Amino acid sequence: MENVKYTSRRLAEIFGITQREVAEILGRRDKFGTADLGKLRKAVRKPVPAYPHRRQLFLNFKGGTGKTSLSTSYAYRLAERGYRVLVIDLDSQGHATRCLGEAGGNFTKTLYDVLVRKATVTEVTIDTKLPGLRLIPSNLAMSTMDLALMPMAGREFKLRNALREVEADYDFVVMDAPPSFGLLNLNALMAAHDLVTPVLADFLSYDGLRLLFETIQGLEEDLSHQLENIFICVNGFNQTFRIAREAVDALREHYPEYLLKSVVRQCTKFAQASSEGCPVFGYDPDSKGAADIEAMQLEVLERIKIGLAARPDAARSVR
Ligand SMILES: Nc1ncnc2c1ncn2[C@@H]1O[C@H](COP(=O)(O)OP(=O)(O)OP(=O)(O)O)[C@@H](O)[C@H]1O
Ligand SMILES: [Mg+2]
Repeated sequence: MENVKYTSRRLAEIFGITQREVAEILGRRDKFGTADLGKLRKAVRKPVPAYPHRRQLFLNFKGGTGKTSLSTSYAYRLAERGYRVLVIDLDSQGHATRCLGEAGGNFTKTLYDVLVRKATVTEVTIDTKLPGLRLIPSNLAMSTMDLALMPMAGREFKLRNALREVEADYDFVVMDAPPSFGLLNLNALMAAHDLVTPVLADFLSYDGLRLLFETIQGLEEDLSHQLENIFICVNGFNQTFRIAREAVDALREHYPEYLLKSVVRQCTKFAQASSEGCPVFGYDPDSKGAADIEAMQLEVLERIKIGLAARPDAARSVR
């Protein structure tokens, strides 16, 4: 994310001010960096709508549906808006860590140290280049997590309990899950208020959803955990393929209450952005990928707001 550059037009857009005001605060320049965003925030002091602390998990047991691309971009955009955001990379592939430009970074600890070796969350959290966006990075050391958790007492609740320590420090915790079914993902589900499930518009993804919903039902019955919101987000959509349109129709029919209206279209910028070590908003905020995640995020935030208004005690249900 070192190479992320902002134009004064984009900064003005983010803060809802004029380009002249940007220039008055930061000076007149062609390009600005992520640190300038922090400076501008301090000067402008525009409050964002408040949400009670929320933990949001991007999970699908199926691989390659866009969990990492969407979660890192979503988290980045939340931080741009002014929220305090913690990303947790749960995947030993470390893709979210790479997407946030920290793969070569000098971190030695991961979530493994918290859940297995009793390190604190704060000890393993690192800053990213974007002010307000912090990260618990991941690497191959995470790959034996399920084995290590297996003999432990309260093994499904380790992550939820560990995150209590930082509840007051973040508005949003965004978790990027690996495409596997195991104790770590069970921990993540138990810690989450909201589940965001990216699916591709094909019928294989559609089948994968059934397993996910069976698991969620199991959580409710066996571990008394109720997710507050489930959002299914169609990713990689290509309107010109009939099969894609049919898959979305099937999703709409079977999961009407969960399916988000906004879809994320196919966009090559996701791959280019992650190879540059930055989310799509940093790489090309004018791309359709960025526009679609913006719309998806606004829809998610709106639905959370409606849910909270209807259930004022809901924010306290996951403790
Ligand atoms: N909307 C999109 N349009 C085009 N390519 C996309 C889109 N979303 C994701 N991709 C690409 O698809 C691939 C898989 O995406 P990503 O890594 O985000 O999926 P994932 O669900 O996290 O995968 P895994 O299950 O391995 O963790 C990547 O190469 C990514 O760049
Ligand atoms: Mg991934």
